[in-house]
Amino acid sequence: MVGLYIHIPFCKQKCFYCNFFSIKYEEDLANKYIDALIKHSLNFKGTALDSIYIGGGTPSILSSKQIERLLSCISDKFDMSKVFEFNFELNPESVTLEKLNILKNYKVNRLSIGLQATDDKVLSLLGRAHKFKNFCDIYTIVRQVGFNNISIDLICGIVDQTLEDWKNTLLKVLSFNSENLSLYPLSIEEDTIFFKNSIVICDDTQRDMYDFSVDLLEKNGYEHYEIANWAKSGKESFHNTNYWRNKEYIALGAGASGYLDRFRYKNISNIKKYIESINNGLDVQVEKEYINDKLYSFESIMLGLRLLKEGISIKYFNNDDYKNILEEYIKEKVLVKDNNVVKFAKGYEFFFNEIVSKFIK
Ligand SMILES: C[S@@+](CC[C@H](N)C(=O)[O-])C[C@H]1O[C@@H](n2cnc3c(N)ncnc32)[C@H](O)[C@@H]1O
Ligand code: SF4
Repeated sequence: MVGLYIHIPFCKQKCFYCNFFSIKYEEDLANKYIDALIKHSLNFKGTALDSIYIGGGTPSILSSKQIERLLSCISDKFDMSKVFEFNFELNPESVTLEKLNILKNYKVNRLSIGLQATDDKVLSLLGRAHKFKNFCDIYTIVRQVGFNNISIDLICGIVDQTLEDWKNTLLKVLSFNSENLSLYPLSIEEDTIFFKNSIVICDDTQRDMYDFSVDLLEKNGYEHYEIANWAKSGKESFHNTNYWRNKEYIALGAGASGYLDRFRYKNISNIKKYIESINNGLDVQVEKEYINDKLYSFESIMLGLRLLKEGISIKYFNNDDYKNILEEYIKEKVLVKDNNVVKFAKGYEFFFNEIVSKFIK
């Protein structure tokens, strides 16, 4: 069984920090895009899925009719009988009761809501299309409709944000009692407004915010199960955890990345060309790489070490280079070995990228 990722590359507007593949929503184009997704899914007809993630972009910007058409096609084309988790991403400005009821009818059982910040000034500085009140209103409705597995996305270390501001943000967010929290320190990516405006971030402040979050979330009943994710016990994201376990998944949609039969691939990042290619029966995979054994071990380590509770089997450190680096890190108490499982030591999580980069050879 595999997971399925579907990319919806439409948003109301472009946030100033975001370089994910998305363009402004247009109803006509979105209709054609959904037709193409449906055609594309025929390549995988009957495949048994264990998880689905509809992400973006902004999946909730699709109209009720478009969402219904997409979800009904998925349940038609795939074997859904063993789906354990069905995720859908929401942005507060585009959620309606009608859309939520459709999601519920089609057995979506996990929602990921992009909040990012609780202060309206910070939200507008980020170029977000919603206000904090929009989020509060839709959160109440989401619970009323009966969704009991909700994740909230936040960004920390935003320009002038102080540790005190961040504490207030987190305390407000904790009051919603969501099952999962994702927390990303702001990164300045190429091709964003922040990059063009030479916005700078302060690593030390981000580190203080991250460390503070680790403490506060633990005291409030959340387990830090992945570098950027905290969940109530048993509510860890199954679909995302499978990415970190280096499991395979199908990708549908423009710009979406997939991993199947030991090949990593990426679909063309151009909506019109994606639609055209699908309609003409052409291949939409533009990047395709075979993951040989060495690469497989490396990726398993990079991904598996993100899983702070689960860790990664020592069997992946199966060459002399990896063994030496591992030994060094264990000596320095950056990594710990427990029953042939290697995990990140507490207190080093913020430096994840820097630490695992040593394994790149
Ligand atoms: C691509 S977004 C999709 C979610 C949804 N469209 C939204 O805007 O809330 C996934 C998450 O990545 C995070 N993210 C995206 N760009 C980021 C950046 N430059 N720095 C930090 N976090 C970022 C945000 O928390 C965001 O919710
Ligand atoms: S952060 Fe989300 S809503 Fe904003 S542009 Fe990126 S994908 Fe769209």
